[in-house]
Amino acid sequence: PVKDVKTSSGKTFAEEMDLRTFDISTMSNGPMLSESLKEGTKKSHKEAENVSFVRHFLKGKITRENYAILTGNLYHVYTTMEACQDAHGAKVLGEMYIPEKLNRADRLLDDWRYLTQTEGKFPDPSPATRDYVERLKDISENDPKCLIAHAYTRYMGDLSGGQILARCARKALNLPETGEGGRFYEFPEIKEGGKKFKNTYRDMLDRVRPSGDERDRIVGEANVAFVLNMRLFEELDVLSGVQNASVRPFADALKWSTTWKEP
Ligand code: HEM
Repeated sequence: PVKDVKTSSGKTFAEEMDLRTFDISTMSNGPMLSESLKEGTKKSHKEAENVSFVRHFLKGKITRENYAILTGNLYHVYTTMEACQDAHGAKVLGEMYIPEKLNRADRLLDDWRYLTQTEGKFPDPSPATRDYVERLKDISENDPKCLIAHAYTRYMGDLSGGQILARCARKALNLPETGEGGRFYEFPEIKEGGKKFKNTYRDMLDRVRPSGDERDRIVGEANVAFVLNMRLFEELDVLSGVQNASVRPFADALKWSTTWKEP
């Protein structure tokens, strides 16, 4: 293969180019999708980190009640997202369809039951959660390739900042060493560890090879997903009486889906 050919420096072509995966067809098709996603959601990521709820969470200022509400809402989000992924499977998601490693819904339910000590009826989704769920269903029906954007935003987030938030939650809520209440952040089926897996996941993204228009829709949709997540946090700010808190309009999320263009 071309990637193994040695250049004049004695390195292989792949080493010289510092490529994680060498694939001519990807090279001729614009930037790697993992890069487009990372760069294209940088601003939204920063904004998400700055929502009061998240800032407080990082400082260990989180109540068991609010954490339970978030867990319950995320349960609705992941149940829908994962059902949509199942509906299309590898046909649409390709090698990124790995439910056995990534699925979170059952874990969120376990956490919610532990945090609330309730066996009974699960709460209905909050308004912002309903919008998120509706968006997932809409995408699943009308532009299923964009489910990749939703998977990216949540799972890569859970494997990154999520691991930081896990430590904050365990400490602030005094969760037991045995893991109850924080199962959401554990990925026992990822044997190689989260750090290594994230690079594997990026390689998988890079093999999706969308057309230019598809790429823009996927990166746009990842930004939609970020805003939908911010709305969940903002809702909790409003609920907790944070001064001047408000939930931004659903339309602010949706506008990303039609406006993103690779710079
Ligand atoms: C990546 C921190 C909130 C989604 C990262 C990384 C860090 C981080 C350090 C880089 C990890 C790496 O490259 O290995 C945080 C912190 C957060 C936070 C401290 C809040 C306290 C969020 C939220 C979301 C999110 C709310 C979305 C729901 C992502 C995604 C990536 C990421 C998708 C992967 C970026 C890429 O490499 O393509 N985060 N994050 N993060 N985070 Fe966050």
